[in-house]
Amino acid sequence: MQLHTISAAYFSATGTTMRIVRTIAQDLAHALSLPLQEFDFTLPSARQVPLSFSPHDLVLLGTPVYAGRVPNLLLPYVVSARGKGALAVPIVVYGNRAFDDALMELRNTLEDGGFHTIAAAAFVGEHSFGHDLAAGRPDARDLALARNFAQGIATKLIASGFEAPPVPISVPGNNPVGPYFRPTGANGAMIDIRKVKPVTSEDCADCKWCAEHCPMGAISYERVSDIPGICIKCNACVKSCPKGAKFFTDPAYLYHRDDITARYQSPRKEPVCFL
Ligand SMILES: Cc1cc2nc3c(=O)[nH]c(=O)nc-3n(C[C@H](O)[C@H](O)[C@H](O)COP(=O)(O)O)c2cc1C
Repeated sequence: MQLHTISAAYFSATGTTMRIVRTIAQDLAHALSLPLQEFDFTLPSARQVPLSFSPHDLVLLGTPVYAGRVPNLLLPYVVSARGKGALAVPIVVYGNRAFDDALMELRNTLEDGGFHTIAAAAFVGEHSFGHDLAAGRPDARDLALARNFAQGIATKLIASGFEAPPVPISVPGNNPVGPYFRPTGANGAMIDIRKVKPVTSEDCADCKWCAEHCPMGAISYERVSDIPGICIKCNACVKSCPKGAKFFTDPAYLYHRDDITARYQSPRKEPVCFL
């Protein structure tokens, strides 16, 4: 089979998944002398039409890990992707706690959608909830591993004559996948932060950045302090507000953020690549 295009497809609310997927895709395209196309499906407007490929495509598809799985509100869009025999590399990016069953879920979803998975990886990115857990990642070491992974994929493809492998790439995780990770509060009981939303301070300059970049389209454009839609706690608005005017005040959410930061700060988790 002849490959025509390398595709980098990703959801990336705070940019870490994008950096990893792009780095791997750029090096792979270079190594194979193939054109690279990007599908950034972070914003709702980019998810109007399902992704669709052909047997001449190699697709690197990346999502962050939310609660140990592919973000649940994003899953229907990933499920809708049509591989039509394309080769694929599922990539998950997580915030130094764990990726649990996310890579298994992404691999299975791609296989079910008509992709042939030939490699897979889990990388680490700064945790969405703050700047302290997995701070600054992916860093130079992560990106060097991403480039190494690209070389490994290129070598494997050339050795196999670009043919689809007989079986899906083997990845860790429960199959079928297990339940979503549920955070616990100070008393050890489960806490539910699904309805929690950020607040907006008087420092807000009404620049509309948050409304225009919310991956769920949840923030009112007319009145950006209103969030009528579903907040997934991706922190795109919190981390990128030019005035620092959006933040969380919910005690359960803040407890969970500080708890995982303390618990999972170390050891540093390293990327794992499967070829
Ligand atoms: C709601 C939510 C749940 C998350 N769950 C996990 C998790 O289970 N394990 C983990 O290590 N990181 C978790 N993270 C952190 C993200 O996976 C990580 O920060 C990732 O790099 C974010 O990707 P992005 O920058 O492309 O948005 C979670 C983040 C959010 C917003």
